[in-house]
Amino acid sequence: MSKDDSRMWGGRFNEPTDEFVQAFTASVAFDRRLAHADIEGSRAHAMMLKHIGVLSSDELTAIKYGLQQIREEIDEGRFEWSVALEDVHMNIEARLTELIGDAGKKLHTGRSRNDQVATDIRLYLRDQIGLCREGIRAFQHGLLDLAEREAHSILPGFTHLQVAQPVSFGHHMLAWFEMLERDHGRLGDCATRMNQMPLGSAALAGTSYDLDREFTADILGFDIPCRNSIDAVSDRDFAIEFCAAAAICMMHLSRMAEELVLWSSAQFDFIRLPDRYCTGSSIMPQKKNPDVAELVRGKAGRASGHLMSMLMLMKGQPLSYNKDNQEDKEPLFDTLDTLIGSLRAFADMVPALEVNQEKMYQAAQQGYATATDLADYLVKKGAAFRDAHEAVGQAVAFAIDKGKDLGDCTLEELQQFDTRIEQDVFEVLTLEGSINARNITGGTAPEQVLFQVNAGREMIKD
Ligand code: ARG
Repeated sequence: MSKDDSRMWGGRFNEPTDEFVQAFTASVAFDRRLAHADIEGSRAHAMMLKHIGVLSSDELTAIKYGLQQIREEIDEGRFEWSVALEDVHMNIEARLTELIGDAGKKLHTGRSRNDQVATDIRLYLRDQIGLCREGIRAFQHGLLDLAEREAHSILPGFTHLQVAQPVSFGHHMLAWFEMLERDHGRLGDCATRMNQMPLGSAALAGTSYDLDREFTADILGFDIPCRNSIDAVSDRDFAIEFCAAAAICMMHLSRMAEELVLWSSAQFDFIRLPDRYCTGSSIMPQKKNPDVAELVRGKAGRASGHLMSMLMLMKGQPLSYNKDNQEDKEPLFDTLDTLIGSLRAFADMVPALEVNQEKMYQAAQQGYATATDLADYLVKKGAAFRDAHEAVGQAVAFAIDKGKDLGDCTLEELQQFDTRIEQDVFEVLTLEGSINARNITGGTAPEQVLFQVNAGREMIKD
């Protein structure tokens, strides 16, 4: 090969790489997103090499200067990325040598792209998980405000999408809050577990240089250097774990999205979404479509798909590093963009929704939502629950037949089903009576909801 071969591994090859193969194997188009992490990792590696006497002070100074220049070139869009240089790592290293000469060539001492890329992804993902968790917190704060504002608004609670029992709208928002709280925890667990440093594992077996791995780990904020070099360069379980946590969070957002779409339809008309989050139809002037909610619902499919890609990518791979792993980046990056974007949209849109209290109230009145309260009332008057259930079932059938709600029946009508029913039953049959009665930890009484709002604020105050 000619001396000007730009390939950093060209030494043993007799012909240039096929042009198509070069493009096919290159990852620089997408892994350039790791540039900052790559520079940070290189800087720390160089500081460690100086610390153990492999680099001189002057060489370290030159490397730091060169890396800083490269960072600026990238940030300002002046950096010339080359597909011939395959990936982000070799692009940066080649530019470093161009800028500072021989010191740049020493940077790769005791390092391989295998431990380098595994380190870069962890550094990058650790940061990005921080952003996801901030996004969740912002949305949770909005939900607490909304729950407080609407603690006394009554929503028909559903099971099987049939009106079941009245609940506080705020209580429903707190259900969303809890789902997100577990997502926040899952992402945190995954960030903690991944915080071990591959650098020093080199290609797969470790290195014969006496590297001070603890020193590098300390600079980069890793808890410890990875304990096994073969595992460190090979497994991407940490990225899969993130994708799993993200897919679960997106699944949660899709459930909220579905409710927002239903509730904002003319048939439900329970809520109004802010105009700035909806779009119109080019043909039907009356339309206001909940696009953002629908998109988030759809994007949950992407996140689940990426999780499957990552699992299938890793499945069956023999130890240690295989080029397959280069395929981890696009699904990972897209999952991050999807989750961060969806959280941002919901954090802004949901707390700004307007509740149509009258519509929700009427809907809750129509579905015999207080039938359970009547059964509980009979039990408190001495009936066995199963008997009470039967009597109330008959009362509901009667009311349906007469085309009215339980609360609209006369005392005499209700007494046909159990003679223990008295005038105080009407208090029990109101929606307010029903929700106020559920004043138990986790229950839907507005008093409980307000208590949980305060507890939630305390929990996420950080
Ligand atoms: N671009 C590669 C990746 O994403 C970097 C590691 C390549 N290592 C190698 N020996 N080819 O995985």
